[in-house]
Amino acid sequence: MYKAVRGTSDILPEEQPYWRYVEQKAAEVCRLYDYRRIDSPTFEETGLFTRSVGQGTDIVEKEMYTFDDKGRKSMTLRPEGTASVCRAYIEHGMANLPQPVKLYYLASIFRYERPQAGRLREHHQFGCEAIGDDDPALDAEVIDMAWRFFASLGLTGLTVQLNSIGCKNCRPAYLAALTDYYSKYANDLCPDCRDRLSRNPLRLLDCKQPGCQPVAGAAPGSADHLCGDCAEHFARLRGYLEALGIPGNVNHRLVRGLDYYTRTVFEVQPEDGGGQSTIGGGGRYDDLIAELGGRPTPAIGFAAGIERIVLNLKKQNVAVPVPTPPLVFLASVGEAAKETALKLAADLRGDGCGAIAATGGKSLKAQMRQANSLGARYAAIIGEDEVKAGTVTLRDMASASQETLPAARLAARLREAL
Ligand code: HAM
Repeated sequence: MYKAVRGTSDILPEEQPYWRYVEQKAAEVCRLYDYRRIDSPTFEETGLFTRSVGQGTDIVEKEMYTFDDKGRKSMTLRPEGTASVCRAYIEHGMANLPQPVKLYYLASIFRYERPQAGRLREHHQFGCEAIGDDDPALDAEVIDMAWRFFASLGLTGLTVQLNSIGCKNCRPAYLAALTDYYSKYANDLCPDCRDRLSRNPLRLLDCKQPGCQPVAGAAPGSADHLCGDCAEHFARLRGYLEALGIPGNVNHRLVRGLDYYTRTVFEVQPEDGGGQSTIGGGGRYDDLIAELGGRPTPAIGFAAGIERIVLNLKKQNVAVPVPTPPLVFLASVGEAAKETALKLAADLRGDGCGAIAATGGKSLKAQMRQANSLGARYAAIIGEDEVKAGTVTLRDMASASQETLPAARLAARLREAL
C-alpha cells in the first residue's frame, strides 16, 4: 500500500473550503494593495537558491530537494518564493515598469524538515513582494497588508514581532559584537550554536535549545548597532506603524532563517504559540536583486503558510463558506425513467442549476437516502407512470411535501423555489 510521503498531505474535499477561503481573502487583499499575481516554476536552477537564501542557512545546507536532471544540471524544488520572483523581475525587465512592482503568489514550497504539526516537507505559501522602493512607508504598507490579511480571515490573538538587522555597512560591526559576546559562553552553547558562532552568528539568536536561551536573551541587539540610515529607516517605520495602529513589538532576537534580509524583518505569531507556530514572516531584501545580477533594487515582501493558517482557523472555530449542495436529485425507476432523468439533469445544469441524476441501479429508497446525504433540497422522482404522463414528482426534502408537475415545468418550478 502506498501512502503520501512523510511530511506531505492530501488536501481532501472536506478541507478545500478552508483553502478556497484563504485564497479568496489573499486575492482580495492583493486587490486592495494593487498586487498582481505571478506564478513561477516549481523548480529552478539550484544556484538561484544557494545564492539568495544563503550557503550557511539550514534551508540550503539541510533542507533543499536538489537533484540532477537528465541533462546533468542541478535543479531544486523551490524552498521559498522570493528568489524566483526576483529572478522573474530581472528576466522580464520589470525594472522598466513604474516602481515598486507589486507581485503575489500562491505556491507549494519544499523543505526537508522534521515533520510535525504545522511543519511539512511540502507546504503552501501566500507571498507578496514589492520591488523597487526603499521607503519605510512601503515596509509599513507590507506589514499593514499582512495584518489586514490575517484580520480579514477572522483570526485573532496575533502579534507582530519586528526587528531591524541593518545593512551591509553596519552589520559587520554588529556581528563582531555578537561573536565577541557569544565567545565568552562558547562552552555553554549547544553543538549547533558552537558551529553557528563561526559560520552564521546571526542565527545564534534564533536557537530554540533551552540551554542557549539565557545567553541569547542577554545578547546585544542589532537594532542598537544600526548605522545612521538604518536607524532612521527603522524609526520611521515604527512611526508609520504606530500611525496605522499596528502593534509591532520590537524583538531583538528576531533574525529569520534566510540570509537575504536587510533592515526590516518581521513575523506574525499567534499569542499562545512559540517560534514554530509563526504564520507569516518577511522583511526587506535590498541587496538580493543585485546579488542575482540585476541593477541594485531595494525590495520588501512577506509570506504566510497556508497550512498554519488553516490550523489556526480551525483552532479558533472560524466558520468558512461551504459549497452549496446540488439543488435537485433526480431519482428514477426503470431504464426509460433513467434516460428521462439524465436528460432533465443535463437541461437543468444548462440552466445553471446543480442537478444529480441517480446512477448505479439503486432501489428508490437507496436513491432517496443518497439525495439526503448529498444535501439536495429537492428530489425529482421519475417512475414508469411519470414517464408515460411526461411528469415528475417533486419532493421537498426538508418538509417531505410532494407535488406532481409536467417535466417541462421542472426548471421553472426550481427557479421559483430559489
Ligand atoms: P519563511 O518564514 O521561511 O519565509 O516562510 C513563510 C511562512 O511559511 C512561515 O511563516 C510559515 O507560516 C510557513 N512555513 C515555513 N516553513 C514551513 C513548513 N515547513 N511547513 C509549514 N509551513 C511553513 C519565506 O519563505 C520568505 N520567502 C518570506 C518572504 C517573502 N520574505 C520576503 N518576501
